[in-house]
Amino acid sequence: MKATQQLKDEHQGIKTVFRILDKIFEKFKADGTLDTAHFEGILDFLKVFVDKCHHGKEEDLLFPAMEQAGIAGHGHIRVMLSEHTAGRNYVKNISDAFAGYKAGNKAAAAELIDNAGEYISLMPAHIDKENNVLYPMADSRFSEEKQEELYQAFEKLEIERIGVGRHEEFHEMIEKFMEIYLG
Ligand SMILES: [Fe+2]
Ligand SMILES: [Fe+2]
Repeated sequence: MKATQQLKDEHQGIKTVFRILDKIFEKFKADGTLDTAHFEGILDFLKVFVDKCHHGKEEDLLFPAMEQAGIAGHGHIRVMLSEHTAGRNYVKNISDAFAGYKAGNKAAAAELIDNAGEYISLMPAHIDKENNVLYPMADSRFSEEKQEELYQAFEKLEIERIGVGRHEEFHEMIEKFMEIYLG
């Protein structure tokens, strides 16, 4: 499998989670209810899978390999990196606001809604740019060997950073939430 295909497959799962998140917040805004256990699971997915695993593969392996290959996409890569940073900040704010909300802080709900809204509008667009612009640049320049080498490095990074079996656990959670929120 091509390394970039693995990232595209991950994007599909991530996009699904953003559709679920959107539903969760539609409900939260409409009637003030939030399933905290479900939200906890989503937050874990955002921190562990999206940031540590997926963004880790891009930042530590794909982008440097693209730069090394002399792909003229420095501007695009910079934009991707700054969007990762923005995403990380939203997740931190969401996490803090959620802790406040659980502790009964009334102002925290608005913080939570605002930051989640920003993140939901950032991430799917970020993914589309990678799928449609950045990855095709990599695909046009990487040899099959390079794709294979990166793919193996992705697998290794995933095991080191999130552990064996964690990816599958997240998939199970997504399937369950799809039935509940998107079914
Ligand atoms: Fe990215
Ligand atoms: Fe990505």
